[in-house]
Amino acid sequence: AKIKEVEFVKSSARAKDCPKHDRPEFAILGRSNVGKSSLINALVRKKDVALTSKKPGKTKLINHFLVNKSWYFVDLPGYGFAKAPEAARMDWSAFTKGFFLNRDTLVAVLLLVDASVPPQKIDLDCANWLGRNNIPMTFVFTKCDKMKASKGKRTDENLRDFQQFIQENYRVQPPWILTSSVTGFGRDELLLHMSQLRNY
Ligand code: GTP
Ligand code: MG
Repeated sequence: AKIKEVEFVKSSARAKDCPKHDRPEFAILGRSNVGKSSLINALVRKKDVALTSKKPGKTKLINHFLVNKSWYFVDLPGYGFAKAPEAARMDWSAFTKGFFLNRDTLVAVLLLVDASVPPQKIDLDCANWLGRNNIPMTFVFTKCDKMKASKGKRTDENLRDFQQFIQENYRVQPPWILTSSVTGFGRDELLLHMSQLRNY
């Protein structure tokens, strides 16, 4: 499951401009600011392979990263970001859904969910959409280092609420993995999980 090399391949504005379907790929999906680009950096142990920002809406294109010359990480724009200027705001349904429905090399979607906030409707909607379209997914909870958040519910309570949603909504439950890009928690587990899926 070791990552030896990572290389940025290409940013694509449309699904049809993506690299050809020649290698297994994992798409990273989730709300703006959930930590998608940070997770990629944490997994590959490089600070700035994928660009991150405190402001939501940083990633605006479909970005392919080739790992060990054998499989792709795909960093995607976040959903649920309404504050972008009109010109920069994109129609997630046309843009990203087009990608999911047309990539036969897609091994799984890593659906990132912020563990430090209560379950958000938009995340549940997205999970349901992937489920309805039979797209394999793994729930990856991010920011688990914020366990002791003082405001609102604690992270373990948010996680329990979300896991209850998964249990109630899926006959075959997708796996879930807890992570933190700050501490590296969950990194090895997630990489092992992904290598198991690749070798299926
Ligand atoms: P968009 O590209 O805008 O959709 O955002 P993104 O999902 O790629 O988020 P990004 O990785 O840019 O991170 C957003 C913010 O969350 C940054 O300020 C990160 O430092 C912070 N962040 C990301 N992961 C973690 C984490 O595991 N723990 C904590 N505490 N902060 C995190
Ligand atoms: Mg990003």
